[in-house]
Amino acid sequence: MSKIFIANWKSNKTQTSATEWLEIFSGSAIPASAQVIIAPAFPLLTTVKQHLEVPIRLAAQDVSSFPMGSYTGAVNAQQLKDLSVEYVIVGHSERRKYFHETHADVAAKIAQIVANGLKPVLCLDEEYIEAQADALETRDIPGLIVAYEPLEAIGNGHNAPADQVAKVIQKIKAAYGDVPVIYGGSVDERSVAEYLLICDGVLVGTAALEADSFQRVVAAAATE
Ligand code: PGA
Repeated sequence: MSKIFIANWKSNKTQTSATEWLEIFSGSAIPASAQVIIAPAFPLLTTVKQHLEVPIRLAAQDVSSFPMGSYTGAVNAQQLKDLSVEYVIVGHSERRKYFHETHADVAAKIAQIVANGLKPVLCLDEEYIEAQADALETRDIPGLIVAYEPLEAIGNGHNAPADQVAKVIQKIKAAYGDVPVIYGGSVDERSVAEYLLICDGVLVGTAALEADSFQRVVAAAATE
């Protein structure tokens, strides 16, 4: 079965370092069962777009909760669509923590994503699975992928135990239906295999910053 691998570069990289990453990664064999999605910062979307002949897809890390119009500083879903973006990460815990995004903001962003034919990657921690679902206009979201991202596991090397992840996946499916669920939080080449056994893929931050390390994470799809 195909597995999803999202590289979330967060607020890292320049044109030069992104291009170097893409050149190294495009030289690697990507298993046929891996669906690779790169999520760069907005200014790097066109750089990644130029490498889409490599079998990778493009995601944005965020989107405006408003449509096109007079919203200074905002990047809207229509503009992302125009750049060949297919997926948008929404509600990442860093957005919720540092930018004070609420469940209502996330719901408004998802409405924009869907209205423009893009697919949301909705990040959730266990405590607000239901509250976030209640804030949505509808739970029937075309193309939805849910990422379980326990705050205590992000960016610190302490990935969550697989049995905990398996339990939370059940809760997510109870609230959102039988959608693909992926796990994110300190996933690396050593831990990835156990998550691929219980969910549909992984969202990778730190271990996706170097192309060769992400390559080794993605290679785990071949052993599935
Ligand atoms: P991490 O980041 O792999 O560095 O924990 C994951 C994420 O925040 O999506």
